[in-house]
Amino acid sequence: MSKFDKILITGGAGFIGGHVVRLFVEKYPDSHIYNLDALTYAGNLENLKDIESKSNYTFLKADICDRNSIKDLFDKYQFSSVIHLAAESHVDRSITNPFAFVETNVIGTLNLLHVAHNHWKNDDDDHLFYHISTDEVYGTLGETGLFTETTAYEPNSPYSASKASSDHFVRAFGETYGLPYVISNCSNNYGPNQFPEKLIPLFINNIINNKPLPVYGDGNYTRDWLFVIDHAIAIDLIFEKGKVGETYNIGGFNEWKNIDLVKLLCQEMNEKLGRSKGKSEKLITFVKDRPGHDLRYAIDATKINKELGWKPSVTFPEGLAKTIDWYLNNETWLKHVTSGDYQKYYDKQYQ
Ligand code: NAD
Ligand code: TYD
Repeated sequence: MSKFDKILITGGAGFIGGHVVRLFVEKYPDSHIYNLDALTYAGNLENLKDIESKSNYTFLKADICDRNSIKDLFDKYQFSSVIHLAAESHVDRSITNPFAFVETNVIGTLNLLHVAHNHWKNDDDDHLFYHISTDEVYGTLGETGLFTETTAYEPNSPYSASKASSDHFVRAFGETYGLPYVISNCSNNYGPNQFPEKLIPLFINNIINNKPLPVYGDGNYTRDWLFVIDHAIAIDLIFEKGKVGETYNIGGFNEWKNIDLVKLLCQEMNEKLGRSKGKSEKLITFVKDRPGHDLRYAIDATKINKELGWKPSVTFPEGLAKTIDWYLNNETWLKHVTSGDYQKYYDKQYQ
């Protein structure tokens, strides 16, 4: 059995997971791709309409917090590898409800590790547990410097603390039980299908609807943005060629201060929507800062570049234009995800 035979992807109905599922289903017709997702507020099968009837794809609705059902699924489908993306992923929500983050990100990951290890420990087949993590585990940078794979973990939000904890459990399963694993820590992603709670899709949606653009603090916070398809390509490369027991940082070499990014987004949206120069910029509103707000994230992606030959393929202007076009062309998707509970979340977060 090869790790390619039966690939379990968790969180495949989410933003990044959806792009990874599509890439794998299309690229590996001889593999079977299982997408396991609990369909929380962030999970949306509309993201995968184009591939849902492919013969090498199966969706499994399950919660990684439920260890018994994960075990039953391993028994039934005999997964040869795991690419683990399922998580609670939004910093602001982690500030309001940290417990949900410990449950899914820590306990859920531990459940998967435990079940995968027990399932694989008595055979000599080729297996891999690939854990998808974030650069936020490293904490914050000052004005200079970059996160490398050896930067000490110093998480500052409940989200990053839960992801850091899950990374440590993955590594511990490798050291203690010999579980074959690999971890990657990526910078901020953007692109089609991102839930409009994160900066770029939230602001695109608000610009479309002429609503205020709530910039936290003075807006002088820096993030390193990567187009989601380039993240999916990196994940594929690491799955295929990454060294077992290693960590890889993935980043866009693309740092933006929030306020500059928001101004660029306004400019682009003015053009796309046929609005006069400066119109969307008037929506920019400085609001109360996020507690524990990390000043700057920036990734040194030299290792994955040198060892696996990866670099971003999409420039930021190209990626941003594609993203804006996608949201403008997918009004129904945007309407569906912003109906129901979204408004309650929005009012509570931004009142
Ligand atoms: P997302 O919030 O869009 O999607 C998460 C998915 O996980 C959803 O489909 C949700 O239904 C599912 N899920 C949540 N709890 C679950 C549970 N208990 N059981 C099963 N499924 C569950 O997240 P995303 O932005 O696509 O991020 C995916 C992964 O990548 C996460 O692990 C995140 O930490 C990591 N990451 C994200 C970014 C980013 O910029 N978005 C950057 C680096 C790393
Ligand atoms: P976000 O997309 O939530 O990603 P992360 O916190 O994981 O980096 O936020 C990106 C940056 O944008 C971060 O510095 C917080 C800021 N931000 C705002 O200023 N206003 C907002 O409404 C949101 C959601 C984020």
